Amino acid sequence: MRQRNIKNLEQKIEMNSSFLIRDPKDMKGRWNEVFGNDNPIYLEIGCGKGKFILDYADKNPQNNYIAIEGQENVALRALEKAEQGGISNLRIFMDYVQDLKDYFNEGELQGIFLNFSDPWPKARHAKRRLTHHKRLKNYKEVLKSDGTIEFKTDNDGLFDFSLEEIEEAELQIIEKTTDLHASDYASKNITTEYEDKFRAGGKNINYVKFR
Ligand SMILES: C[S@@+](CC[C@H](N)C(=O)[O-])C[C@H]1O[C@@H](n2cnc3c(N)ncnc32)[C@H](O)[C@@H]1O
Repeated sequence: MRQRNIKNLEQKIEMNSSFLIRDPKDMKGRWNEVFGNDNPIYLEIGCGKGKFILDYADKNPQNNYIAIEGQENVALRALEKAEQGGISNLRIFMDYVQDLKDYFNEGELQGIFLNFSDPWPKARHAKRRLTHHKRLKNYKEVLKSDGTIEFKTDNDGLFDFSLEEIEEAELQIIEKTTDLHASDYASKNITTEYEDKFRAGGKNINYVKFR
């Protein structure tokens, strides 16, 4: 989907394209060639302006990171930051992903991050939620056998729904809390743009890690 609400969007993307992957489906099974090493690969779906994945990649040079964002005008912000930061273990692509097998081979990923995913509150839109059990099963197919999925949200209803979907997909919870910032997991947490906003308003953040 193309958004045109940033003037000269295409031009700005071109000027900040050092870490952009334009043909991600062509990279299926070859992401190690993109990074030039065999380090573990972690993926964030819906990275927004990219704060989380840029911080994560910067702090973990032993891993590779891929960020996907469907809105091009939002992804541009992540591309600009990546360009400025010169973070060589990060790549970004712009797409609304449905089937991860279009982009990745079985077992190609070590981990997947879902941060503050759109809640799609209407019941008839449940299948669009990124934690719907059919999507979770799809993620599992491109993860290594010990690979994990981590999900954070301010939305308590979406969190409850997601816990049910994890069970429906027959996946195992490894870590879980309804107050991430007051939990033992807080010290390893890296915040996202949305998380900072909700935290400033005093909202508890839900977190679950599973495989
Ligand atoms: C609520 S925002 C959260 C952004 C960021 N993760 C954060 O926590 O600050 C959700 C983002 O996910 C993106 N998104 C939703 N579904 C997507 C999909 N299937 N593929 C790629 N991006 C998606 C949206 O465009 C939006 O920018």
